[in-house]
Amino acid sequence: MSGSSFGKIFRITTWGESHGAAIGVVIDGCPAGLSLSASDIQAFLDRRKPGQNKYTTKRQESDLVEILSGTFDGKTTGTPISLLVRNQDQRSKDYGNIASVYRPGHADYTFDSKYGFRDYRGGGRSSGRETIGRVAAGAVASLILNELGISLLAFTKAVGPVVVDETEYCFDEISENPFNMPSNARAEEASAYLDTLIEHLDSAGGIIECIVKGMPAGIGEPVFDKLDSLLSQSVVSIGAVKAIEFGSGFKAAASNGSRNNDAFSIGENSNICKETNHAGGILGGMSDGSDLILRAYVKPTPSIAQPQKTVTTEGKETELIIKGRHDPIIAPRAVVVVESMIAIVLTDLLLQNMSSRLDSVKSFYKK
Ligand SMILES: Cc1cc2nc3c(=O)[nH]c(=O)nc-3n(C[C@H](O)[C@H](O)[C@H](O)COP(=O)(O)O)c2cc1C
Repeated sequence: MSGSSFGKIFRITTWGESHGAAIGVVIDGCPAGLSLSASDIQAFLDRRKPGQNKYTTKRQESDLVEILSGTFDGKTTGTPISLLVRNQDQRSKDYGNIASVYRPGHADYTFDSKYGFRDYRGGGRSSGRETIGRVAAGAVASLILNELGISLLAFTKAVGPVVVDETEYCFDEISENPFNMPSNARAEEASAYLDTLIEHLDSAGGIIECIVKGMPAGIGEPVFDKLDSLLSQSVVSIGAVKAIEFGSGFKAAASNGSRNNDAFSIGENSNICKETNHAGGILGGMSDGSDLILRAYVKPTPSIAQPQKTVTTEGKETELIIKGRHDPIIAPRAVVVVESMIAIVLTDLLLQNMSSRLDSVKSFYKK
């Protein structure tokens, strides 16, 4: 299998399966001298952990991170950072009935078509647990971004049809409800909606939004490695994410140039700024200095307990009832995963940008 690594300078490689001994990530290219402890990473992993309320899977996973390499005396050394989380609450027997059956909405059929062999216990590399490595690396990237005054805020914008309009955003409420929504009132509506779905053994989709503040202008490499193209690759590579948009996004297709263009003006400090932000902070694949705004569209959890029509690996039609413990909605748990992937892309592109001008190279080497 190829494709488990991502990034050029700040490069991550995730490894491990959901029902193997452990899961983790190796980060190469993290600058030396960054203060880093296991608790910095644990804080991120705890936001992803299941079993925290009735809308996440009842699997109890403590997901404790161990730093195996790359730090000394509480600081990064510039060498590869290896992070490991041991798998604990594995109930492989829950997956016995899917060994010879393809689950609709999952990667079972495509894995078998490609490799002729698959780890059917929980999806192997396609499991939501693969995102542990991404989140652990995202915690490290976020520490670097903090040092540069760049901050990320991610939350659940929608649970099924329940959407928080931006005029209602109350960011203090994100941590006060089970869905990470910036509105407790909308979260109550979301609870009622999900309760009905749970009764009908069904699941819901959702939308995650992330707002990045403090981005300097000019980050992103303008042809294949555009800021928006790398963000798209990294976010859509998260299981169950089916689409991404920036700023006005899909709505821009139905707009006009006169409404969609963001007029430039001179701000209070004589700096160039934009009067609106339909572009979501990106022009020509480079950050334009305004807030970076993106939304990830997440499909409903494919594992539902309703009987579903499918086929066996022997090619016979059958009915499947999935046992095991699954989230009735993925979006709230994936908020920190989306935030992490964005942090990883921004860190990598910020490091790449250091070689964009001779002046920067000279100021580094000519003291
Ligand atoms: C954080 C996270 C948790 C997930 N949890 C579940 C789950 O409990 N049950 C499930 O069926 N799918 C879950 N998924 C989604 C599947 O991994 C994903 O839908 C599947 O691998 C098929 O990939 P695709 O949806 O990208 O085509 C989760 C995904 C993420 C990111």
